[in-house]
Amino acid sequence: MTNAISVKNIVAGYGPTIVLDGIALDIPENGTLALLGRNGVGKTTLLCTLMGLTTRHSGSVEFFGKPIEDVPTHIRSRNGLALVPQERRIFPSLSVHENLLVSVQKGGWSVEQIYEFFPGLAARRSNAGNQLSGGEQQMLAVARALAGAPKVLLLDEPMEGLAPVIVDALFDAFSKIRDEATMTIVLVEQKVDLALEFAHDAIILDRGQVVYRGTSEELKADEEAQHAYLSVGAEIA
Ligand SMILES: Nc1ncnc2c1ncn2[C@@H]1O[C@H](COP(=O)(O)OP(=O)(O)OP(=O)(O)O)[C@@H](O)[C@H]1O
Ligand SMILES: [Mg+2]
Repeated sequence: MTNAISVKNIVAGYGPTIVLDGIALDIPENGTLALLGRNGVGKTTLLCTLMGLTTRHSGSVEFFGKPIEDVPTHIRSRNGLALVPQERRIFPSLSVHENLLVSVQKGGWSVEQIYEFFPGLAARRSNAGNQLSGGEQQMLAVARALAGAPKVLLLDEPMEGLAPVIVDALFDAFSKIRDEATMTIVLVEQKVDLALEFAHDAIILDRGQVVYRGTSEELKADEEAQHAYLSVGAEIA
């Protein structure tokens, strides 16, 4: 089976500062991976490293078997690697419709398909990005990624700060994408139960290293690992 992503011994960070300290990771084509770990352990840095947005000191990144660690970010996106960043990058002064139009690429979802998938966005098509609720902005950020024909979708805490009813709606949307589209998805998520329900496989980072890897089912059953590395049932520090 081809791996969509294969990372070997990545040491990376910001300038001279090393955050990821020797990460190895394989994600099979059409796989789903929950990327877990407490605050500040390097989850965002790992996604940014896959996109080529950090300083790489050593190690390699393959995308469907081809080395991409020296490929510029915009070419990685054009080839089908898409990041929905933690801070939801949308164009605040453009309308929903315009935000989508500028993102559409050959082979990606059409604006019509997106409206069908996210009826909430269709209803807000003329509103500017900065007039949307947090949940609508997140849907728009995900929709923009889908319009760009991703083969691998990297979602960085997409439910963060959203009301429970919106979290449920987004979770349903992600599950539908997982089940109906041909796509590899990496989900960073603080809500461990949600992440494990969504993804087939899971890894946990701690201080820039992978400290756990297994299937989501295995991790669900492994309370020891959850307590050691995740903020599950732990006292608030
Ligand atoms: N632009 C940056 N320059 C320097 N250091 C950074 C930068 N961004 C993050 N860091 C540092 O890198 C480490 C990992 O941060 P990162 O954002 O990857 O963690 P995270 O696991 O995504 O955390 P969170 O769950 O809070 O989003 C932290 O120590 C952080 O302070
Ligand atoms: Mg983060």
